[in-house]
Amino acid sequence: MYLEIDNLTKTIKGTTVLDGVTLSLERGRVYGLRGKNGSGKTMLMRAITGLIRPTSGTVAIEGKIIGKDESFPPSVGILLENPAFVSKYTGFKNLQVLADIQKNIGAEVIHETLQKVGLDPSDKRPYRKYSLGMKQRLGIACAVMESPDLILLDEPINALDPTGVDLVKSIIMEHKKRGALLLIACHDAQELDYLSDEVYYMAEGRITGHEVPGGDAL
Ligand SMILES: Nc1ncnc2c1ncn2[C@@H]1O[C@H](COP(=O)(O)OP(=O)(O)OP(=O)(O)O)[C@@H](O)[C@H]1O
Ligand SMILES: [Mg+2]
Repeated sequence: MYLEIDNLTKTIKGTTVLDGVTLSLERGRVYGLRGKNGSGKTMLMRAITGLIRPTSGTVAIEGKIIGKDESFPPSVGILLENPAFVSKYTGFKNLQVLADIQKNIGAEVIHETLQKVGLDPSDKRPYRKYSLGMKQRLGIACAVMESPDLILLDEPINALDPTGVDLVKSIIMEHKKRGALLLIACHDAQELDYLSDEVYYMAEGRITGHEVPGGDAL
């Protein structure tokens, strides 16, 4: 399995926000996360990316423990709540600055990715003048532009109009087909079922259920 999460527990100031999460996830699949507000979906994504360190338990990618063997997953794209972009830069410039860190992709791929999320690559407006849905689209473009092995999308269709939702769904399917592992948290049960090969339920920091949409509960 590409991603192995073993007994992951995180306690913040005496509160257990992740409690013994164990999951084995493979590439070429979309995994959904469903759970009430505060159930731990975002915390789980943060722990997978190495943004928070486990109190106990491990997250391993291809056998390498995050926070021990590697600081961060070697190939990851992530959309978390409130993506932080530079407010005075255009969307294109923001992505270019981030792409320059890894130097995996050039201007052409950025251009193409912006078009795929329905943003105009030549839009001269700075990020601060973007609408909420435009900001969300840029966040998705940022998460997928380098075609990483692992893509974590926290509420990817929030604030999107129906056209935006369709674009994001086809982007998710495209990356699944090329072999990425996608983990998606989404409050829209119908959309999550449509997108996911498997859905995990979370409550109070624990995995409480597992279901194959359209199939029988496991
Ligand atoms: N910075 C923080 N410090 C301490 N506790 C936090 C922090 N951020 C979140 N929590 C707590 O961690 C728990 C899990 O929160 P998390 O954000 O993972 O929930 P979620 O499932 O993503 O919820 P939502 O559906 O609202 O996005 C909650 O009890 C929350 O209060
Ligand atoms: Mg959340």
